Amino acid sequence: MASNWLTVLSAGTRWFAPAIVIGMTVIAAFGGGTLAKWMRQPTHAIAVPTGVLPAELERWDRPDLTLLITGQQHGYLLPCGCSRPQVGGLERRYNFFQALSSRGWKTLPVDLGDISQMAGPVNLSNMQGLMKYRYSMQALKMLGYAAVGLGEYEGALPFFKALGEYALNEPSPRVVVANLNDADTQYPEQTARWQAANVEGSPWKVGITSVIGPSVGSKIKDPQVRLGSSRQALESVKTEMDNSKIEYRVLLYQGVFTRGAEGVPPVEAEAVARAFPEYQVVVALSEEDEPAGAPVRIRHSDGRETLVVRIGHKGKYVGVLGLYKGAAPGMPAHKYAIAQMSEDYLTPDNALAGNPVVKLMEAYSAELKRDGYLARYPQMVHPFQAAVPDASPTYVGSEKCKKCHASAFAVWKGSGHSHAWQTLADAKRPSNREHDPECIVCHTVGFGYKGGFIDAEKTATLKDVGCESCHGPSSEHLKNTSDETWLKLMNPWKVGMDNSPAAVASKQQKIDQFCQRCHDIDNDVTWTHKGFERKWPKIAHPTPESEKK
Ligand code: HEC
Ligand code: HEC
Ligand code: HEC
Ligand code: HEC
Repeated sequence: MASNWLTVLSAGTRWFAPAIVIGMTVIAAFGGGTLAKWMRQPTHAIAVPTGVLPAELERWDRPDLTLLITGQQHGYLLPCGCSRPQVGGLERRYNFFQALSSRGWKTLPVDLGDISQMAGPVNLSNMQGLMKYRYSMQALKMLGYAAVGLGEYEGALPFFKALGEYALNEPSPRVVVANLNDADTQYPEQTARWQAANVEGSPWKVGITSVIGPSVGSKIKDPQVRLGSSRQALESVKTEMDNSKIEYRVLLYQGVFTRGAEGVPPVEAEAVARAFPEYQVVVALSEEDEPAGAPVRIRHSDGRETLVVRIGHKGKYVGVLGLYKGAAPGMPAHKYAIAQMSEDYLTPDNALAGNPVVKLMEAYSAELKRDGYLARYPQMVHPFQAAVPDASPTYVGSEKCKKCHASAFAVWKGSGHSHAWQTLADAKRPSNREHDPECIVCHTVGFGYKGGFIDAEKTATLKDVGCESCHGPSSEHLKNTSDETWLKLMNPWKVGMDNSPAAVASKQQKIDQFCQRCHDIDNDVTWTHKGFERKWPKIAHPTPESEKK
């Protein structure tokens, strides 16, 4: 994962506070008509970590124009802070962009789309999806994005809601899509077929368009959405761009790039990249979280070249495509690197006040609190409640277990699990995390289940990761502690008398899998490094002989 591009210079890191004002003229193209528009960056002085750039970029001559390429953010606004080091987030991206601009780089950010999420963590329903889309788009505006695509993820919101949530009221960043039929009538003025961007001081007039390929189109179930042929759309956009004297063309292609076998005609992104030498760069979907390193260079018979870039998922990386004036006027030379949004781009404490994305995230969690999102989530039937519907066990809280399971209780009390709610209440940047269901779901007992956590007042005994977070709702066990039905359900890991190494290993593997419901790849980034072996001993709580009846 860590290529040497990503090594960041740690020596000579300085923080200072330049006043940055970037002007970028953007001309929006609504099916041919043009409309001049200024995209303003904040005009106040901003302190940012201007000293840090990936080593690869430190070695580059300053490009004449730099495209900053992102996509497939999948709802990841900001690392949750559950473990370190986490990668990604819009705040760090802002600081990275500022670091480039403060060195005089002329930048043009574009995003492939799939900004929103399909579901919340631990399969929570997508209650926060639309709202997170709006906040992401607001952040992309602050970051100076010229154009953003639409994909399967926005299609699931669905499109009309996503566009109504942001683009209806706000033209920048412009949502571009060239093959969405009836866009002008269904979503009037909310999308454009393409977008021209003229970065002040850069030698090229850039045009950005996007199409939704057939494989993505087939996943968009909304009957209102009718997609036309990508090729026809790209043909006509090409002509429109020619008429507008566009010199450099960017295609955000909502579809994957797969190299077909020998003799098999290319499909999707590859087919389009081969068919349209006029598009100098094609951004395609990644199938994996981690980005492809180098772009694929497709050489056309007339000597032109199209670069295919894929940037991974969850906003962990930014693709940096440097353009340099080359021999032929319309054919700049390219350099490409990926920048990991590592902790190097954290906002220094003395710069927090000037960072608009920090404020935006604070507004996000404040809105969740104000609008009472915790109470909005439906409560599902827990598998135990479904298993024995007549009994319908509910949650009782960990204190109730202390009397009979004193030593298990003591282990739990001394573990991180016993203060997991307080951790959220104490969190800063943003605060109010204890009102965010997408945090609460792993930091309390039974959130989203009947009888589970609702909020700190209504369900005070269900704060924190309690006994019942792992053992399930236990009221029936309390009524009859020898009822085998509940003992079995509450300890599904038990292997009875079989102490063979195979049985023990298989049990441990099951428990390990179970821990990863919360200690997953995003939230506990070090679990893959012997997480179970390291962490289980800290919380293991076998019943001592003295406590057994
Ligand atoms: C999928 C489950 C899950 C979700 C969702 C989740 N957390 Fe966590 N969180 C964890 C786990 C697991 C740990 C403990 C990680 C470890 O063992 O290192 C943790 C630990 C933390 C810690 C403590 C870190 C420390 O240094 O002690 C903070 C702070 C935190 N989470 C904040 C959040 C916030 C804020 C959110 C919502 C944006 C959130 N969590 C959502 C599972 C989750
Ligand atoms: C009134 C006493 C009592 C209380 C209160 C109590 N338990 Fe138990 N628990 C028992 C007894 C007795 C057993 C069976 C012990 C044995 O087989 O060694 C048991 C067994 C268990 C087991 C092991 C099941 C198995 O078959 O391996 C779990 C898990 C458990 N309890 C969880 C809880 C939780 C969680 C709470 C609190 C919500 C709780 N208990 C409260 C008495 C109690
Ligand atoms: C319901 C979600 C959830 C489950 C399931 C869960 N954890 Fe945790 N775990 C957390 C959270 C949240 C924290 C962070 C607590 C804090 O500091 O706020 C945490 C913290 C911890 C810690 C303390 C942090 C550390 O690195 O020392 C250990 C140890 C731990 N978990 C082990 C486990 C093990 C082992 C399992 C599986 C048996 C497990 N957890 C299952 C949510 C969970
Ligand atoms: C993070 C998840 C988690 C939490 C929290 C947790 N347990 Fe457990 N517990 C387990 C697992 C996993 C096992 C099975 C361990 C095994 O069989 O080796 C277990 C086993 C048990 C057993 C059976 C022990 C034995 O000797 O067979 C009891 C009793 C128990 N837990 C009670 C509790 C009580 C009471 C609490 C709260 C004070 C609690 N547990 C909190 C995961 C958890």
